[in-house]
Order: sequence, then structure tokens, then C-alpha cells
Amino acid sequence: MSTADHPRSFTITLLPSQRSFASTGQTTILEAAALAGLRLSSSCRNGTCRSCLCRLVDGTLQYRIDWPGLSADEKATGWILPCVALPTSDLIIDQVDFLEMPDPANIAETKRARGRGF
Ligand code: FES
Repeated sequence: MSTADHPRSFTITLLPSQRSFASTGQTTILEAAALAGLRLSSSCRNGTCRSCLCRLVDGTLQYRIDWPGLSADEKATGWILPCVALPTSDLIIDQVDFLEMPDPANIAETKRARGRGF
């Protein structure tokens, strides 16, 4: 039986907030965060600008691209680029800035309330 028959699920925990979310390992950390309603710092989303740079405290990952914008020293000391990183285990990541994205259901309710003159 292949691993495709058993979808993986990893937990990604952000420090210092302790906020966590799930990932199948098929999407980048940045994409998995967005699916969980979190917007992590980013810009290019292709591993070149380093806007998303943060530090891996625990876990393993692989990169979607061959040459993410990190030096060998940075990789060796745990710096990662979540926009192109795919988890291969549960992860703990430090120094992550993020914003909670509003729940679309709440946005729709707010618009309806405004439409009624509130
Ligand atoms: S968003 Fe540019 S390197 Fe990650």
C-alpha cells in the first residue's frame, strides 16, 4: 500500500504565539497557513526575496525549488523560507509574523448588517 493511500497530516506550530495548524505536506507552509486563516509575512512567494525568512526549531522539510534563497550557513543554522518549504514532519517554527485573516462568513454577516443600516 502506498503513502498516497494514507494522506499524511502534520502539525505546524508557530513560536512565540504557539498558534498551530495542519498541513498535508502537499502545500507549502505559507499555503497551509493561509488555508488555516493565517497570513504569514511574504512577498515573492518563490523563494527569492526572503520576506518570509524564519527559523526551524524542530522537524524536517523539503523545498519545492532546487535553490531557495538561503546560504549553506543559513540552512545549517535552521533558517527556512516557508513560501517554498513543504513539511515532511511536524514542525515548530520561530520568529514568524502573521495576521489572522477574517473569517469570510463574518465578512458576509458584517456586509449584511451594514446593508440594514447598522
Ligand atoms: S516570500 Fe519571498 S522568499 Fe518567501
